[in-house]
Amino acid sequence: MARVIYMDHPLIHHKITFIRRKETGTKDFRQTIGEITMLIAYEATWGLKLSDVEIETPICRTMGKELKGKKLALVPILRAGLGMVDGIQQLIPAAKVGHIGLYRDPVTHEPIEYYCKLPADCDEREVFVLDPMLATGGSASAAITLLKQKGVKNIRFLCIIAAPEGVERLTKEHPDVDVFVGALDEKLNENAYIVPGLGDAGDRIFGTK
Ligand code: PRP
Ligand code: URA
Repeated sequence: MARVIYMDHPLIHHKITFIRRKETGTKDFRQTIGEITMLIAYEATWGLKLSDVEIETPICRTMGKELKGKKLALVPILRAGLGMVDGIQQLIPAAKVGHIGLYRDPVTHEPIEYYCKLPADCDEREVFVLDPMLATGGSASAAITLLKQKGVKNIRFLCIIAAPEGVERLTKEHPDVDVFVGALDEKLNENAYIVPGLGDAGDRIFGTK
């Protein structure tokens, strides 16, 4: 059964309020998305497999732990998911990165795939799917279906803002995927935008509006 983990940390509350503000500009928005992602990644990386390793400190030999074997792949959903990559790469520089391109049809709001390029050994890795917005859940669900078709077995989904409708759809369609949510909002509006939300995440990250 999928676990949905809602963040409840003062730093995350503070930073999400900052990016919601309409006067927050592109540079600050992008930087803060990265910071929030790093904080969510702290939670999402609990339970990653470790192996014991013998090392030498300046004082003596000792045993330590490090992330095991085939580790992590990050898969941002284009475009807005790109804004979350850097934050996790700062913590785990060895993570490989794949990309899935989806956009929402403006009328049906259903996702349309236009790009997919994944690390060759993706199916042996733990995959973190990244998208700041979980609205209807269509994009996240389609991306995860695509990954499963490529043989990926261990998937976690990280988002910054979710609507209840998106959480419901994603957990129903992918009950094996844990979902990490920065903030749970109230609802979707008639255009399937999250309320109160933060507007169009892609446009705000890349300054396209
Ligand atoms: C946004 C967002 C998600 C999707 C969420 O992308 O980044 O991918 O919408 O909505 P859903 O849960 O209803 O599918 P969008 O389609 O606007 O593309 P963009 O990132 O290229 O702007
Ligand atoms: N995509 C966004 O960028 N924002 C929303 O509120 C919904 C989908």
